[in-house]
Amino acid sequence: MKRFVIVGTQWGDEGKGKITDYLGQNVDVVVRYQGGNNAGHTVVFDDKKHSLHLLPSGILNPNIHNVMANGMVINPKALIEELSKLEHYQLAISDRAHIVLPYHIELDKMNELSKGGSQIGTTHKGIGPSYTDKASRIGMRVSSFVSKERMPKLLKELVDQKNKELEMHKGKTLNYQDILDEYQGYADQMRPFIKDTSLYLNQAIEEDKRILFEGAQGVLLCLDHGTYPYVTSSSPTAASVPLNTGIAPWLVEGAIGVTKAYTTRVGAGAFPSEIDGDLADRIRQVGHEFGTTTGRPRRIGWLDTVVLKHSKRVSGLSYLAITLLDVLSGIDSLKIVTSYELNGEIIDSIPADIEDFKKCKAIYTETPGWSEDITQVKSFEELPDHAKKYIKMIESMVGVPVGIFSVGPDRTQTVIMEDLMKELSK
Ligand code: GDP
Ligand code: IMO
Ligand code: MG
Repeated sequence: MKRFVIVGTQWGDEGKGKITDYLGQNVDVVVRYQGGNNAGHTVVFDDKKHSLHLLPSGILNPNIHNVMANGMVINPKALIEELSKLEHYQLAISDRAHIVLPYHIELDKMNELSKGGSQIGTTHKGIGPSYTDKASRIGMRVSSFVSKERMPKLLKELVDQKNKELEMHKGKTLNYQDILDEYQGYADQMRPFIKDTSLYLNQAIEEDKRILFEGAQGVLLCLDHGTYPYVTSSSPTAASVPLNTGIAPWLVEGAIGVTKAYTTRVGAGAFPSEIDGDLADRIRQVGHEFGTTTGRPRRIGWLDTVVLKHSKRVSGLSYLAITLLDVLSGIDSLKIVTSYELNGEIIDSIPADIEDFKKCKAIYTETPGWSEDITQVKSFEELPDHAKKYIKMIESMVGVPVGIFSVGPDRTQTVIMEDLMKELSK
């Protein structure tokens, strides 16, 4: 696997940033292929914690080339802020990615408010409205944004049009000149990084470079394969990599599904394995389950293998990376969802209709937990027997080998299995 994808198998925040950083040490290029700064990827090493939102998680290593590919939506202000914290890095930004402008953020908030009780709970980063404009062919591409000649005219047309929409719905209208003055500065700073990143990546492939494609969000938040409409507006699946980066589908050689040892979800939407009360509070505290982007408390649930099998099918997982295993230490008995009951029938797939998904009742199997602190474990053999059993159960229930497990946020608290190590060094 010289070119592989890191994909979240649940509802996001599985630890993709950590696994990308860890495996990224052995690749030449790290590519973010979708989403925007709705993502929050945490990377911890040398006692420092880094929160990345737009930048690929290889950006902290000055030897790695980083690409923000055409499938992304980029908020220039957020990008420049993120870059300002870094010194030495290598970055290329696709000339075909789309720009998130201030009216997208206003529209995101407005759309949410108008939904009343059925809000999606978006991150308010303007992601949905920006992808909507892309699909409606009224978006602004990076190539236009950095064009000194074309940008002012296009921006004027778009701001005028969007102000009408905002006014109609009693939203906050925006001043064209203010946006132009501020955003021209961001365009100047972005210009040196702009490239045809499809050309760049195809060249890198010809040179036999190792490439890691870093997904944001998770399969269950996918616009097509997620729990629609409680999803984001792009596709995090491995299948979206070729389209969102401009490489041939058969050049992607595998996918590593990052899987939290339990489940979390931020924002609204049905969640069959959700738990509440003291146990959920305990997991939330131990796992620091508060959003990297919005600070919102994450909802907590047991591990759900219906979800994982769905992700395996639609994203083609070669290996699983199990994260936050340490958070489960000290829980007497662990539950794993095996199937759902829907209208008296047992199913082990996810219904398309959200009303049916809401009605799904989780069916569990139970397995004993472990009490030992596992945060210093360096091999599978060192794990307590019940933790080994938990991993083996996941492998056999999902039908995908576990290639990595993680026992703490730090880069050093990661164990890679021999099989995956061999696969990645071929
Ligand atoms: P991402 O969006 O998938 O990159 O995940 P986030 O960074 O939003 O959330 C994962 C959180 O778990 C971060 O705070 C990580 O530092 C933390 N984390 C990752 N792996 C582990 C682990 O194995 N154990 C613990 N305790 N924390 C972890
Ligand atoms: P990472 O990459 C968790 C969720 C939001 C909301 C829904 C739609 O850190 O895993 P959006 O702003 O995208 O229109 O919101 O998707 N969401 C995430 N949840 N992790 C993320 O990213 C998310 N990005 C979006 O909470 O429910
Ligand atoms: Mg996150």
